[in-house]
Amino acid sequence: MIKKEKELKKKKVFQLVKGMKDILPEDQRYWDFVKKIVDQLALSHGFSKIETPLVEFTDLFVRTTGQTSDIVTKEMYSFIDQGGDHLALRPENTPGVVRAYLEHGFCNLPQPVKLFYFGPMFRHDKPQAGRFRQFWQFGFEVIGEKDAVMDAQVILLAYKIYQSVNLPSTIQINSIGCLSCRPAYEAELKDYLKKYKNKLSELSQERLSKNLLRILDSKEPEDLPIIVDAPQQIDFLCEDCRNHFMQVLEYLDELEVPYALNPTIVRGLDYYNRTTFEVWLLDEETSRQNALGGGGRYDGLAEVLGGQATPAVGFAGGVERLISQIKEKDLKVPESLKYEIFLAELGMEARKKALGLFENLVEAGIKVAENFSKSGLKPQLEMADRLGVKFTAILGQKEIVDNTLMIRDMENGIQEVVDFNKAVGEIKKRLEKSIVKDE
Ligand code: HAM
Repeated sequence: MIKKEKELKKKKVFQLVKGMKDILPEDQRYWDFVKKIVDQLALSHGFSKIETPLVEFTDLFVRTTGQTSDIVTKEMYSFIDQGGDHLALRPENTPGVVRAYLEHGFCNLPQPVKLFYFGPMFRHDKPQAGRFRQFWQFGFEVIGEKDAVMDAQVILLAYKIYQSVNLPSTIQINSIGCLSCRPAYEAELKDYLKKYKNKLSELSQERLSKNLLRILDSKEPEDLPIIVDAPQQIDFLCEDCRNHFMQVLEYLDELEVPYALNPTIVRGLDYYNRTTFEVWLLDEETSRQNALGGGGRYDGLAEVLGGQATPAVGFAGGVERLISQIKEKDLKVPESLKYEIFLAELGMEARKKALGLFENLVEAGIKVAENFSKSGLKPQLEMADRLGVKFTAILGQKEIVDNTLMIRDMENGIQEVVDFNKAVGEIKKRLEKSIVKDE
């Protein structure tokens, strides 16, 4: 082995932090596609975009997402900064959006205020399929309205995202009641589960005293037969919660959104009340573990943050999980930018002129590619071939002397020489003609 190779072998090449992912150029078209669908659907349903910082006070999440949630107790990237502030990388965006709503006096605007976002979240989760430590979410929050119609609209919007990409999905829905009707249910559930204490998984045994409802969404095989026969919250709902839930379902029936009543949808975040729901893939065993998205009502969150009582409902979907399904099922996604023409040059003088022509072509809206750093014509033409362009424009020494440009039709190999000063118009003309021919 030669010396340089040995040295390279010894050198540690930096790698990604565990659970983080690069979004590579070849994947950008998926991200653009999802972002475009989210933007279009959200804007057309009256939502405005909001971007909150990635960093918030740790306490924001402790008070809302909750001290009993896995997100806060085990998964939060929290730290003390140089000024002594206790901060966290946002594990989710609902608390940040409500903080912004309160901080900017959105309660004085006509209600409800509908906001949406698209951005990265951070959770120190166990990395595995569909779980990352930095992952992206899109989300919708409707703040300032308690009517069930808003729950239905948020669910519809969530459903439409997956419909738009032709991904078969279903809504799993439940109501977890409110502070007045939940305690009676929890007492009943505790009595029931205690009878099976020794048969429950270790995690569920721990949750008996700390986070009872979460036992219902346990994925441990030994818990499942016990959970199936557990008392259900919907049998314990107070009249208001029951009416609210019935209305949500009636709206969904009207909208023909397919849903399944699922008493185990309790969600892992502390702020929810009444409606809770998840979007699952239709007919997939892994749906339960890797929900495409989830949401629900959180009428008490604003008050916890020092605001007035402000009912709200929202949803967030995982972008990576959606994209992995789009890829797995080979769903249709627009191609990334397709170049129309390649601009090749030979020699210093030609390169100087080509730089200017390139800019003129870009300004004229022509999708032009180049490889100016390569000096020979051969590698440039090879690249033109690889890109599958319709034409290659060649600026060689002869063209410089004659003030011309050669345009080669890549399909039939015909080459034509045009006046350099009319190059942009000539190229445009040929591209337009070739589009008509393709149609
Ligand atoms: P969540 O269920 O914690 O809810 O997250 C929503 C979605 O984000 C999940 O269904 C999943 O698709 C994606 N997700 C969560 N964790 C990961 C991870 N480690 N790796 C990849 N994807 C992940 C919330 O975050 C709530 N803020 C939703 C909400 C909005 N509720 C009301 N408004």
